[in-house]
Amino acid sequence: MNTARRKVFIKTYGCQMNVYDSARMADVLAREGYEPVEGPDGADLIVLNTCNIREKAAEKVYSEVGRIRHLKEAARREGRRVEIAVAGCVAQAEGEEIIRRAPAVDVVVGPQSYHRLGETLARARQGGAAVETEFDETKFERLPAPPKSAAPSAFLTVQEGCDKFCTFCVVPYTRGGEFSRPAAKIVAEAKRLLSSGVREIMLLGQNVNAYHGKGPDGRDWSLARLILELAELPELARIRYTTSHPRDMSDDLIAAHGACEKLMPYLHLPVQSGSDRILAAMNRRHGREAYFSIIDRLRQARPDLALSGDFIVGFPGEEEEDFAATLDLVERVGYASAYSFKYSPRPGTPAASREQVAESVKAERLARLQALIGEQQKRFNAATVGLTMDVLLERPGRRAGQLVGRSPFLQAVNVDAPGRQIGEIVPVVVEGLGSNSLFARLAGAAGERLTA
Ligand code: SAH
Ligand code: SF4
Ligand code: F3S
Repeated sequence: MNTARRKVFIKTYGCQMNVYDSARMADVLAREGYEPVEGPDGADLIVLNTCNIREKAAEKVYSEVGRIRHLKEAARREGRRVEIAVAGCVAQAEGEEIIRRAPAVDVVVGPQSYHRLGETLARARQGGAAVETEFDETKFERLPAPPKSAAPSAFLTVQEGCDKFCTFCVVPYTRGGEFSRPAAKIVAEAKRLLSSGVREIMLLGQNVNAYHGKGPDGRDWSLARLILELAELPELARIRYTTSHPRDMSDDLIAAHGACEKLMPYLHLPVQSGSDRILAAMNRRHGREAYFSIIDRLRQARPDLALSGDFIVGFPGEEEEDFAATLDLVERVGYASAYSFKYSPRPGTPAASREQVAESVKAERLARLQALIGEQQKRFNAATVGLTMDVLLERPGRRAGQLVGRSPFLQAVNVDAPGRQIGEIVPVVVEGLGSNSLFARLAGAAGERLTA
């Protein structure tokens, strides 16, 4: 191979953990002499970092490989080699099958083995094994130095994998068992992010509130303990975490929402269904009353907490009365935003072989649920008009002088902020609503503060 800087394009699907992994793969590949580019044209290596959560997400991989295969063939005619790597959760789930089904793919690496991407590519060039899907808990130790971030808000993976085995979900199979990084490594990574200008850190894990990493005192630290430690870092202004499971919403974490100013008043706490019968069939191991009780306690600790969630409609066995219980739960909780999906049978998961709900029923229920969630989201956003709140400015807006940032409640806010810089946290007065965002101006000296 020539020694000039080779170019890599990484395309990311799926959740925030994949976004984090893509950045780390870029670090690994930088060590191999690759520089990142923004699109597939002209790239020497194209990495698809895939998601397997629903069938549609998984199938995208094959259509995408179909498209880039033409680039690869065109390059070959010019005497240039383009390599294709499939990484992420589809890579883990399907392994060699991917190369069988899509022979244009050169290598396959799972989410726990991408630190070996360079070696795997080299081996494949020699005609060796091109599939690397071993679960390797030493991954984080083997990655290059912790990343820097160009943006003021950064992701930091603290926990990976899941032992919960909800009967619809592929994550325990694609990401492996639950694993927590040692607290000292996380703090070191946070400090490095802060040194590059980061103001907000989103702690990530498939089951982030199950975090129980080794602390520097030799004891296991909870997520709450870790958050309180990070909150001591003076340059860090905001802390968030996602995604949580209701069963791991421990008392100390609930208390942290009241005690820690830097912990933002927004929580994504998926419940999936409002029906106890369906929750049991999903193996969620909690009922609706337990969820209400957690929400009550959270709101006692932090009255302005905004809530978000995930819902699945049309899970096997879901009757109209189960779905009505989901609508009722949504009414009672009142979400600031929420995601909802039609149940998608995933190969190898227990619910996939159960009797399925008709597609038309799923579609109709999803429409009803999304209408309700949409109304709640509008109501939540409308209630913030006229209020003063802090916004972390994150990127340029459409108009000159406009910057876009996030409110404490994770709302996107377009701020008329001439002379202000990305990375600043500024008080703004919310003046109006867009379809998915707010419009605001810089606040004067006085103003009602929403978050005390
Ligand atoms: N770890 C998180 C969720 C990870 S997956 C948790 O425990 O809540 C993100 C969301 O995708 C889930 O919350 C669920 O709502 C949805 N999802 C997962 N598997 C699905 C499937 N087979 N069909 C439809 N939606 C699914
Ligand atoms: Fe999937 Fe979340 Fe359930 Fe784990 S807890 S199996 S990641 S839905
Ligand atoms: Fe998808 Fe894997 Fe994340 S399946 S949602 S990319 S953990």
